[in-house]
Amino acid sequence: MNIRATLADKPRPRYLMCNPQHFAVTYSINPWMDPKAWAATGQVLHAKAQQQWDGLHRALIRHGANVDVLVPASGLPDLVFTANAAVVLDGKALLARFRHPERRREEPIYAEGFHALRARGLIDQVIAMPDDVVLEGAGDCLWDARRGLFWMGAGFRSDKRAAGVVDDVFGVACVPLDLADPSFYHLDTALCPLPCGGVIYHPGAFTEEARAAIELRVAPADRIALDIADAELFAANAVCLDRVIVMSSCSAALRETLEQRGYTVVTTLLDAFLRSGGSACCLTLRLDRNSRATAQDAVTGTWATQRQ
Ligand code: ARG
Repeated sequence: MNIRATLADKPRPRYLMCNPQHFAVTYSINPWMDPKAWAATGQVLHAKAQQQWDGLHRALIRHGANVDVLVPASGLPDLVFTANAAVVLDGKALLARFRHPERRREEPIYAEGFHALRARGLIDQVIAMPDDVVLEGAGDCLWDARRGLFWMGAGFRSDKRAAGVVDDVFGVACVPLDLADPSFYHLDTALCPLPCGGVIYHPGAFTEEARAAIELRVAPADRIALDIADAELFAANAVCLDRVIVMSSCSAALRETLEQRGYTVVTTLLDAFLRSGGSACCLTLRLDRNSRATAQDAVTGTWATQRQ
């Protein structure tokens, strides 16, 4: 089979997003959120958020994704961050249980959304978290296709013992990582496993023990450490579509590092969402991940150059 046929035959990755019609910063549950500063800008930031969300939506479609859009609900300003809706793998959706009451109100809306996806045959099974265990969806639980495991952020929003639930539900390893910096309160704000085996991460976001757990499983050549400047641009909060990495923005140095590994970096500014502590990855949820599909066509740390 030639390469063109292989690429053409690949199914389009499917994502869930939610229109930011009701997006706003009206409460504060992370250090980025300042409701007074948001209110002071009137409708300006809201209009900007809509434009920026449209830009991300367009970029994903242009680079080969299918996007399903959840109907927004008034009074739920963070519903736009669909990464937090559930952990999804192999057709199973493990619905999120949120830490804060402000976001708990989103749970029935996401549940309804997943039942609708199941009715359309896009999800096989919708599973609830145990009542007393908190896990904020894929925002804190990232699938690493190359290693065949989940990385799970713990401490601020998700309970460490949620790793056992993930393990049981999906039958794969789940490595809990304690988060240390409240500005990087969800794992996806500080870590991004790339399909070729590289892992983008901001070491300062993790406890020493968590850093050791990462370093145990990620070889030095595969570690792409972000300094605080790139971390604060939420460069780790990226969406990977094969060799294309979509993010809000990053330094020239990070772009070059990623390009040297065979990736194309596509930036589409999302700073209106940073006002809420979110960016590209948070605004999307991959629905069609499969634990058997590892990045077979990749080589350690870099894409095979003959494929370009
Ligand atoms: N304001 C939201 C919160 O604090 C932002 C969520 C961002 N989502 C993410 N997956 N990191 O919950």
